[in-house]
Parts: sequence; structure tokens; C-alpha cells
Amino acid sequence: MTWLLVALMLVVAAAGLLRWRRPAWYWLTFGVTLAALRVLVRYGSVMDACGLTVPAPRWRLALARMADRPVPSPRAPRILRVRPTRTGLVLRLKLRPGQDAFDVSASADRLRHSFGMYGVTSRELRSGVVELRMTGYDVLRRVQMPSLAADTGPMRVPVALREDGSVHYRDYRAVPHALTLGATESGKSVYQRNLVAGLAPLNVALVGIDCKQGVELFPLARRFSALADNPDTAADILDALVAHMEDVYRLIRSHQAISVSVPDAEIAADIWDLPEDIRPVPVVVLVDEVAELALFANKEQEKRRDRIITALVRLAQLGRAAGIYLEICGQRFGSELGKGITMLRAQLTGRTAHRVNDETSANMAFGDISPDAVLAAITIPAEARGVAIAGDSTGGWHRIRAPHTSLRQALNLCNKHADRTPHLPGLDAFRPALNTPAPVPAPAVESAPAAA
Ligand SMILES: Nc1ncnc2c1ncn2[C@@H]1O[C@H](COP(=O)(O)OP(=O)(O)OP(=O)(O)O)[C@@H](O)[C@H]1O
Ligand SMILES: [Mg+2]
Repeated sequence: MTWLLVALMLVVAAAGLLRWRRPAWYWLTFGVTLAALRVLVRYGSVMDACGLTVPAPRWRLALARMADRPVPSPRAPRILRVRPTRTGLVLRLKLRPGQDAFDVSASADRLRHSFGMYGVTSRELRSGVVELRMTGYDVLRRVQMPSLAADTGPMRVPVALREDGSVHYRDYRAVPHALTLGATESGKSVYQRNLVAGLAPLNVALVGIDCKQGVELFPLARRFSALADNPDTAADILDALVAHMEDVYRLIRSHQAISVSVPDAEIAADIWDLPEDIRPVPVVVLVDEVAELALFANKEQEKRRDRIITALVRLAQLGRAAGIYLEICGQRFGSELGKGITMLRAQLTGRTAHRVNDETSANMAFGDISPDAVLAAITIPAEARGVAIAGDSTGGWHRIRAPHTSLRQALNLCNKHADRTPHLPGLDAFRPALNTPAPVPAPAVESAPAAA
């Protein structure tokens, strides 16, 4: 008997320790069973308390009256399926007549604490069927991407975890161009690094523009087909990309055998319609610290700036069908950066905002999409680096966080897939030198005096 008691106490202590230190492991060992039992046992009373029940149908009430039986109790939505997941539970519910999906989503917070879960979100799958996604712990605190996540398509990479425990994908064919905003040290570069790591194993050319002297992207150079660390090279690379885009369109037209008199705007095909053996490789252009490209101090730099913005706008407007996708990161991206910026922003459909310091910055990402997302972006706490709000032009948004991929991990992955780096004909001149270590001149920066 004593042994049994000791063993029980040990199990309870182990569960408590796991729950505190390793919530993900706790969930997989004890949490999932306890939570499933709790939800199933409390289901009826919780739904009743949350106002998610409807009275029994009239014929049953009449039958009960005639048979002198107790009045049938109100009915909650029927559970179609309970599915345990790595991070929580997924309940599929069939609504009763008279209920709607909004009732359930409005009660999400009440359901969350009534069932003792960490988070509850709901969405309508089809008419009358609602999915409740519950998480058992804060999945964004220490992001662990599921190793079998790879539901990757030709241009679809898992990049972050959503707060409901599902994987957030960056799908270039659905959303060709994207903008990532955030205050300094909010996690933009780590997010971009995750994208590079996700794209590295795919058959895609990467072009990088990193005006922070290349500190973020140059270590990953072996997987890049072209890299720029200053606005002058960036301008040349973007011009070369516009020329590449025109070549791709000519290729598509020659394959279509449409006569040259057909105007460009009428070309409906894109590279994905071409047979695989002649299909040009898609190109993802990653721009970090975009404001550096749009700032100028003299006339000459102003000319360069106009050249860069014009090329970016052209790529954003026409690049998709030629398989050129833009991924732009910056701290702010508004009209104060000059003409052409809002026009470029309008083409960047995918929006992600890390922590921002003011509402105007959040508006640059979501002002034209969803006011709720603006509020969510400015309320991200400063210590939650990497947490971001990701939305799209459909008005939906999610709280996401990318895994903390270190530069070393990304570098190893890029080196592993270095042989996949394609040569882009017009961009060979900008391919980083690989065999010799990049000669970085010693900086004329004074180091801090050592402590005595
Ligand atoms: N997803 C994440 N999970 C955990 N920590 C993160 C995450 N993203 C970023 N961080 C932390 O925040 C720090 C700053 O991130 P990052 O360099 O990406 O910021 P940034 O927005 O690019 O800043 P800057 O504008 O100054 O370049 C990282 O060194 C890392 O410690
Ligand atoms: Mg950065």
C-alpha cells in the first residue's frame, strides 16, 4: 500500500515538474488524456453555461408531456469528432437548428477557461459544422515545429507556428509578394532566416539584398544566386532581374506561339504552365532593411533611389507570372519614404507585423486589411520577440512565431543545399565569391575598454 502511495506521489510530482518545465512533453504524456476526459465530462454543462444550447424540439416536449415523463433537457451541439493533436484538442461540432458559428466564436474565451485549456479558436468548416481548436499550453513560448509538418508544395514552406498550434505556411504561388514590418529587434531577420532555411531545399533561386552591410544574408551566401550589401549593387541586381523577367516572358510567348503583336497584358500563362524541361527556375528576392534603398542624401542617390523603387514596383506588378516573388522586410514602409512606396506596398499581399511601437506603423501593414490586426500588432509585448501578426488580403489574421533558428543552423542548411543554387544568366556577376572567404576589411570601430 505504501509503495503504491509513493509511486503515485512520484507520478504526480513528475507530471507537475513536466508541466512547469516542459509543457509540450507534459501535454503528450499526461495532458492530452486528462484534457480529453475533462472536455467530454464537462461538455454538456459547459455548453449550457455558455449559452450554447437550444431547447429540445417541440415533438419531444409534447411526447414527454403525454407520457408524463420529465421535460427533456436543452441540447448542446453534437460532437462529430474529437482529435488529439501535438499541442491540443480539435473538436468538430454539428450545430443545432437556430445556432450559428458566430455564437461559438463569441464564446471562445468562456470555453477556454471552462474547459481549462490555454486557448480556444473556432472556425466554420461548412454550413452548420464548426471546428474548435484548443491548445493545452502556450505553444508560442518555445516554438517547436512538428517534424512531419512538411505539407510543402512546389513553392510552399512552413515558416512559423500559429497560436492555435497549426503550422503557418508561406505559399508563394497563392500570395506572391509579402511585406514584413517590425520595430528594431522584433524578430524580422529571424523570420526571414527561417524563410531562407525553408526555401533552401527547394528548386528555387534566392536573391538577397541586405543593406545592413550583409550581416544577415552574407553568411548564407552559398545558397544565394546573387547578393547585394549596398544600394548601388542592389540597383544593378534589380535591373538585371527586370531584364530576366522580360526574358522569361519572351520564353513564355515563344512557347505559346502567339504572334508578337499580342500585347503583354493579354498573356495569361505563367511559368508553371510551361513544361518542366524548359521552365525557368522561380526566383525569391529577399530584401532586408528596405528603407535603406529608399533614403537619399544627394541628387545622385535620389536618381539611384528612383531606379530601385521603379524596378521593385515593376517586379511586384509583373513578376508573379515570371516566377519572381518579393519578400520585403523593414521597420516602416510608408509614404514618408517617398513616391512609389505606397504603390509598391499595395502589391505586397502577404502582410506580417512584428512588434511595432506606434499605430501608424501597424497601419502600414494592416490599415487597409483589418483594424483588429492593427490592435493585435501594437499589443505584442516587447519581450515576446519573434511573435508577429500575419494576415492576408482576405481580412483573416493569426498570431504566429517563427522558431528561433540561429544563424549557424541556417548556414549549415544553406551549405548542405549549396549544390541546388542555380545560375541566373544575367545575375552571374552578382554571385557571391564562394571559394575565398569574404575579405572583410578590419573595421575602424573602437572596442569598449576591458573592465579593470
Ligand atoms: N522567433 C523568435 N524566437 C525567439 N527569439 C527570437 C525570435 N525572433 C527573434 N528573436 C530574438 O530577437 C533578437 C532580434 O531578432 P532580429 O535580429 O530578427 O530582429 P530584427 O527585427 O531584424 O531587428 P533589426 O531591425 O535591428 O534588424 C534575436 O537575436 C533573437 O534573440
Ligand atoms: Mg534585422
